Amino acid sequence: MLTVSPRDRPFILTGAGVSAESGIPTFRGVGGFWRNYRIEDVASPQAWRRDRRLVWEFYSMRRRLASTARPNPAHFALTRLSRDLPRLFLCTQNVDDLHEQAGSRDLVHMHGELFKSRCDSCNRPPFEDTNLYEPPAEIPRCGCGGWIRPHICWFGEVPFELDRVYHALDRCTLFVAIGTSGTVEPAASFVARVFGRVRSVYLGPEEPANASCFTECHVGKAGEILPGLFAIGG
Ligand code: APR
Repeated sequence: MLTVSPRDRPFILTGAGVSAESGIPTFRGVGGFWRNYRIEDVASPQAWRRDRRLVWEFYSMRRRLASTARPNPAHFALTRLSRDLPRLFLCTQNVDDLHEQAGSRDLVHMHGELFKSRCDSCNRPPFEDTNLYEPPAEIPRCGCGGWIRPHICWFGEVPFELDRVYHALDRCTLFVAIGTSGTVEPAASFVARVFGRVRSVYLGPEEPANASCFTECHVGKAGEILPGLFAIGG
């Protein structure tokens, strides 16, 4: 049990494991996306330059999967927690919208959002887009002549809103990571940044690769453990 007070500033990092119980596959586990696709074929700027159709096939498949997914008790528990703890900072590596569906607001999607697209050439802001671009669909173009790409941070690109993320990390009074394998930077090093300063807690069915940096690991599924993990004190 983690006792927290409304004065606390918890930093919560979520990964694919928090959406697993909603039916969205993780990346590296059994049935994970990276067991069936190669990152360099579908999730890198090089892949986009080489084969835009294949990239859009991959993200269209993920849009289809995510479009029927609904939040699980872990997403709802985090929404309730953020109401009790107004200084809570929620940062997700997930590109699905399950935190929002559960009622969370003002979170950081450091790896982008699946249901948004943007131009690969001009500065037109990202826009809502639920379309599937699969053959025979054409890949859409921007008015400037550029190609419309998924609003996703690919390998080799810089995650979104890192200034805001590091500001929150450096002020947090508790660090909690949920359902992330601790293998993808920069998120994997967040816990090292707070190491020795604040209590750091991991929650997931197995230890992450960076387990030694956490002060404690709670082994189990997020949807089962998270709803009872926090107690609000004075
Ligand atoms: N509850 C909590 N954790 C779970 C659950 C569950 N029900 N089921 C699985 N997990 C854990 C797994 O044990 C694993 O440690 O979720 C983690 C998922 O790890 P990854 O598949 O590596 O996903 P993640 O860490 O979020 O990946 C980071 O890699 O390719 C990218 O951009 C993609 O954002 C993603 C990033």
